[in-house]
Amino acid sequence: MKQRGVTLWFTGLSGSGKTTICRNVQETLRKRHIQVELLDGDVVRQHLTKDLGFSRQDRLTNIERVAFVADLLSKHGVITLASFITPFREMQDHARRHISSFREVYVQCPVEKCIERDVKGLYKKALKGEIQNFTGITDPYEPPRNPELILRTDRESIAESSQKVVRFLEEQGFIPKQ
Ligand code: ADX
Repeated sequence: MKQRGVTLWFTGLSGSGKTTICRNVQETLRKRHIQVELLDGDVVRQHLTKDLGFSRQDRLTNIERVAFVADLLSKHGVITLASFITPFREMQDHARRHISSFREVYVQCPVEKCIERDVKGLYKKALKGEIQNFTGITDPYEPPRNPELILRTDRESIAESSQKVVRFLEEQGFIPKQ
C-alpha cells in the first residue's frame, strides 16, 4: 500500500522542544520502515535559507521556501516533520494554505520555562540585548488559532509528547496502527 504523506508543522518558541520531539518521532517511524523527513529551522537555515536573518520579512521567506519543499515531500508520500518557530499567524496561515496535506502541532511551553531551560544559551544573550528580534523576548510569538494537536511540554515528558504525535499519525490514518 502506498504511504499517504502529510506535513506535520511544529510551531512554538525556541527551546519549547520541537526539535527533540521531531527527532524522537523520526526515529520511531524509521524503525517502522516508514518514509520520514525532518526539516528543522536550525539545519535548514545553514543550507536552503542561509541568506536569511530574523526580520519579519526574512522569517516569512524562510517559511515560504520550506513550505514549498514540505509540500513536495508530503505529496510524494513522505511523512514530513517541519520544525520552525513560525511566530506570526501570517506565516502559520501561509504554510497551511500552501501545503496540501497539512496538520499543525503547537508545541506549547511558557516563555519562562524556555528561559529556564535555555539549551542554546540564546535567551541569556537576548535578555542582555546581545541578540535582536528574539522571539518571546523582543519579538512576538502569536500562538496558532486552530492547531490540530497541542503538546504541553511544560507538563508532559518528551516521550509522552512524541508518543502523542505517533498516535495522532495512526489515528489520522497516515501510518499503520501498532
Ligand atoms: S522562524 O522564525 O523563521 O520560524 P526558525 O525556526 O527558522 O525561525 O529558526 C529559529 C532558530 O534560530 C532558533 O531555535 C534559534 O536557535 C535561532 N535564532 C537565532 N536568532 C534568533 C532570533 N532572533 N529569534 C529566534 N530564533 C533565533
